[in-house]
Amino acid sequence: MYLWPRTIRWQMLLGLVLIETLSIALFAFLLTDYLQDRVSSRAHSRLEQQSLSLATQASQPILDHRGDLIQQAVKLQAGFGSVVRTFITDPTGKVLFTSEDTAAAHPLTAEELAQIRQVKPDALHVFQFGDGRQEGIQPIYNGSVLLGYAWVESYTQWDKDLVSVVLRATVLFGGGWIMLSTFLAWLVARRFSRPLTLLHAGTRSLMSMPQGSGNFPLPVTVKNEFGDLIIAFNRMVASIAEQRAGLSDTLSLLDSMLANAPIGLAFVDRNLRIVRVNQVFATLTGVPLSRHLGRTVSAIMSPEAAARLEDAFQQVFSQKIHNIEIELLGEGPAPIRDWTWLVSVYPVLTSQEHVRWAGMIVRDVSERVRAEETLRKTEKLAATGRLAASIAHEINNPLEALTNILFLLRNFSTLDAQAHEYVVMAEHEVRRVAEIAQQTLRFYRQSTLPGRATLAELIDSVLDLYRGRLSNQSINVDRGFDPQQTVFCYSGEIRQVFANLFGNAIDAVPSGGRILVRARPSHDWRQPELKGIRFTVADSGSGMEPEVRARIFEAFFTTKDATGTGLGLWVSYEIIQKHHGTIRVRSRSAGSNHSSGTVFQIFLPDDETFSAPTQLAAKRAPKDESARPSLQS
Ligand SMILES: Nc1ncnc2c1ncn2[C@@H]1O[C@H](COP(=O)(O)OP(=O)(O)O)[C@@H](O)[C@H]1O
Ligand SMILES: [Mg+2]
Repeated sequence: MYLWPRTIRWQMLLGLVLIETLSIALFAFLLTDYLQDRVSSRAHSRLEQQSLSLATQASQPILDHRGDLIQQAVKLQAGFGSVVRTFITDPTGKVLFTSEDTAAAHPLTAEELAQIRQVKPDALHVFQFGDGRQEGIQPIYNGSVLLGYAWVESYTQWDKDLVSVVLRATVLFGGGWIMLSTFLAWLVARRFSRPLTLLHAGTRSLMSMPQGSGNFPLPVTVKNEFGDLIIAFNRMVASIAEQRAGLSDTLSLLDSMLANAPIGLAFVDRNLRIVRVNQVFATLTGVPLSRHLGRTVSAIMSPEAAARLEDAFQQVFSQKIHNIEIELLGEGPAPIRDWTWLVSVYPVLTSQEHVRWAGMIVRDVSERVRAEETLRKTEKLAATGRLAASIAHEINNPLEALTNILFLLRNFSTLDAQAHEYVVMAEHEVRRVAEIAQQTLRFYRQSTLPGRATLAELIDSVLDLYRGRLSNQSINVDRGFDPQQTVFCYSGEIRQVFANLFGNAIDAVPSGGRILVRARPSHDWRQPELKGIRFTVADSGSGMEPEVRARIFEAFFTTKDATGTGLGLWVSYEIIQKHHGTIRVRSRSAGSNHSSGTVFQIFLPDDETFSAPTQLAAKRAPKDESARPSLQS
């Protein structure tokens, strides 16, 4: 069947040609069969007629012994197209007259002689030679006297030629007819197969490029069932495209839901390999998004965390548990501290309720945990601050009594010089205790209104509070400012800023290190007409790495595990903002050819008008202010 064509057009044509060839062949066969019958029977009767006619023509001349007339009759009969020769024999079979030139050339053969005996009087006789020749024999009588025989030999091929001519004509006509009808059929088939070919090509292009619309809709070129089919096909393609668009819309929505969800999402299959994750999850694990796919969680997370997660996945897959909550703890790379993740593991079900994937939702609650911790610490600090203030307050009365008593004691005349000296020393120390109590109180009491404060009040009082730590670590403090210089500010808050800066500097410097405090009248970097004071607090401490340096003003950012709150610089920044000032920092950590250290620079505008709008602003957002944990209490 390899030769059988693959298209309808050629199948139709081949079928047509086969049917026509077969029917024409059958027709030709029947025709020749019939013709041959008719032709041979006609030839037979013609031969009979010819031999009878020769016998009749010859009988009278034989009686009259007119040889010339006999010869003429013989020649006449031989002139007929189908006749080979004619001759007349005597009753014994001796050839007397022949249409051939020499009578001796053709005596009767034995076969012919045998025929004579079979010839009956008054009966026509025709016989066949073995080699396809035919001869008619007619006895010539005169009354009852047998005069001889008239012979006519016929040329059988002559009749056969006729049949073959007819056959040839039939075949020729048949061939022509087949060609013509094939051409006509080809035209018709083309009309049918064109739309089919179009449909076929359309289907193929639809399958090969499912995204593109290709060359749809297909043109409707015919008005019949094929045309209807093309219209239906176009409609189907349009509805498929519509469905596809809807589907891809839904898919991209789903993708976006996954990608843009502000929580970490990841899904694993039954082999516990990750099949989908979103960017937040990748950010949480610190592994690039693409490196998650096809891997297990143990390849991405710490062994303990992975073990707990895989355990949960197994439970979800085996028992279809609907939600497993896990709290994962881990250690992040410095400077980020420990992290805490809240993970929910749940099954992703197919429509047949089989567990296809296990999903996990990860929320990073490190900040919250840290904030809670800091809040606890801050509250403790605040309580301690209040306690210190009340102690300072309580100490004041006995201190006053003590001062009075010492004054009285100093003026006692009975005291010797040595005792007097001790009393003076005691008086001196008691005055210092009183001073510390005063400072503590002043630090604690918040100034609600801005006012002029001297640099001594702002800086020295704070340094006094740190005196113990400074001398313990034998830190050398270099002061470079005019203590009487004043600046317009909320003095309590500015003291708070210096307390934070000095505290950090003391934390950073090694024992024997240096801290430098400077203050100069100056003007703003950006607005030179704005006058104010520039403070510099520098230390020879450890300095900061750039990634730490970038985050120090963030709330809760700290590198000091137990002792830090990460609030100091955040609060300081807010305070300086409130004063319309600027705070800048330069820092470098220790390198091979330079020493480390940090420099904070603060510019405070000395502007008595600034408080008005700020107070308004403060009133406008009182909740905002009070919501912030602060060290100011
Ligand atoms: N003078 C300094 N030298 C080195 N590091 C500093 C200095 N000041 C601040 N830092 C860094 O900034 C971080 C944030 O400081 P801060 O907001 O005061 O919070 P905390 O002191 O509670 O850590 C500190 O943890 C420290 O890493
Ligand atoms: Mg601090």
